[in-house]
Amino acid sequence: MADVVDMTEAEARRRDEADPSWRDWFHIPPAEGGRYPEAAYLAGNSLGLPPKDTQPELLADLEAWARLGVAGHTTGERPWLPYHRLLTEPAARLVGALPHETVVMNSLTVNLHLLMVSFYRPAGERTRIVIEDHAFSSDSYAVRSQARFHGLDPDTTVVRLAPRPGEDVLRTEDVVDYLRREGSRVALVLLGGVNYLTGELLDIPAITAAGRAAGAVVGWDLAHAAGNVPLRLHDWGVDFAAWCSYKYLNSGPGALSGVFVHERHVDDPHLPRFEGWWSTEPETRFEMAPVSRPPASADAWQISNPPIFSMGPVRTSLRIFDKVGMETLRARSIRLTGYLEQLLDAIGATIVTPREPDRRGAQLSLRVQDANGLVQRLWQEYGVVADARHPDILRLAPAPLYVSYHDCWRAATALADLGWGA
Ligand SMILES: Cc1ncc(COP(=O)(O)O)c(C=O)c1O
Repeated sequence: MADVVDMTEAEARRRDEADPSWRDWFHIPPAEGGRYPEAAYLAGNSLGLPPKDTQPELLADLEAWARLGVAGHTTGERPWLPYHRLLTEPAARLVGALPHETVVMNSLTVNLHLLMVSFYRPAGERTRIVIEDHAFSSDSYAVRSQARFHGLDPDTTVVRLAPRPGEDVLRTEDVVDYLRREGSRVALVLLGGVNYLTGELLDIPAITAAGRAAGAVVGWDLAHAAGNVPLRLHDWGVDFAAWCSYKYLNSGPGALSGVFVHERHVDDPHLPRFEGWWSTEPETRFEMAPVSRPPASADAWQISNPPIFSMGPVRTSLRIFDKVGMETLRARSIRLTGYLEQLLDAIGATIVTPREPDRRGAQLSLRVQDANGLVQRLWQEYGVVADARHPDILRLAPAPLYVSYHDCWRAATALADLGWGA
């Protein structure tokens, strides 16, 4: 029989003493309702919270602009021309990549398109794009528009893999089985590493291997995986990936996206690519030559000069991941999510996220009646921040950098109070 969890507030406090977060490094929003001054913020899978270092460091970059004007491109503490390189190594460490496989630029869907320009190359019978039926809408729209761009019918080109009838999440073996059966018709597999709706963490290495064995290109949308679960994109042989920085990476609304291109592709002269003046070797940038000389790195996928004031928050945030370490963070994440799961089980909630810790990140999704109404009441009456996803899912994300056991306890007891367990 599963252990019966101690539902007392004192126990939540005791766990926080024993297994503290790094919450002091973050601004926690004030609560609107309830007994506690701070929000119990369980929406970091939607928008992470600001690190306290972000504002002063961003102000320092703004101050450099005021002081240096155009000279800031080449002088000052963090000159702008090579600024993006400050993000490369920490981003590479975060996703298990080599530095020349990584670049931070643009936003996520834009990058998925730029990567598909290179990696979605339908030919003959091999035209299909495989996504999850529960793919985030932006990915669905992006792949359908790519199919149309190639003159293909999106309804037959895009294959949406669904969970089995009566099940909520995809099974890796079903994805692998599809690729074994139909792989010769698949040009591209583009899946979410952690699904936005269910919180399921797919078996990225197994699916990547199966897709590549079938002759397809395998790319990953890691919006919900980066900064959430340990990744080893290089070792897993992933062809390409992209992620945003505003969820678990706490870099602010609409923050820049990271890109991974496996090193076997970075100097392939046959790959089509959209280019601009930032796609060429830095030393040739001001030669104003008619033809680019792309570096053998993910930097070649850059097009425009980067937005420095958007890069600053990503740089500050990535430092936190270097300080804490993804393994340490993941270990706390597993303990914290496990505790929330026990509390939710105790109040009789319906959890759709997989129960195995290695099949999920820091998110539990619940099936509820009126998700939007519940989210409002949780906030207004209890100061608990959760979110709702169409049509009937309530998402709770115990992001381990700043969420406390007490926050989880507040969420579960608020849900119980609202008649959850009745
Ligand atoms: C899985 C996933 N893909 C794509 C997007 C869209 O990201 P963007 O608006 O940054 O392009 C999101 C946004 O939340 C997402 O969760």
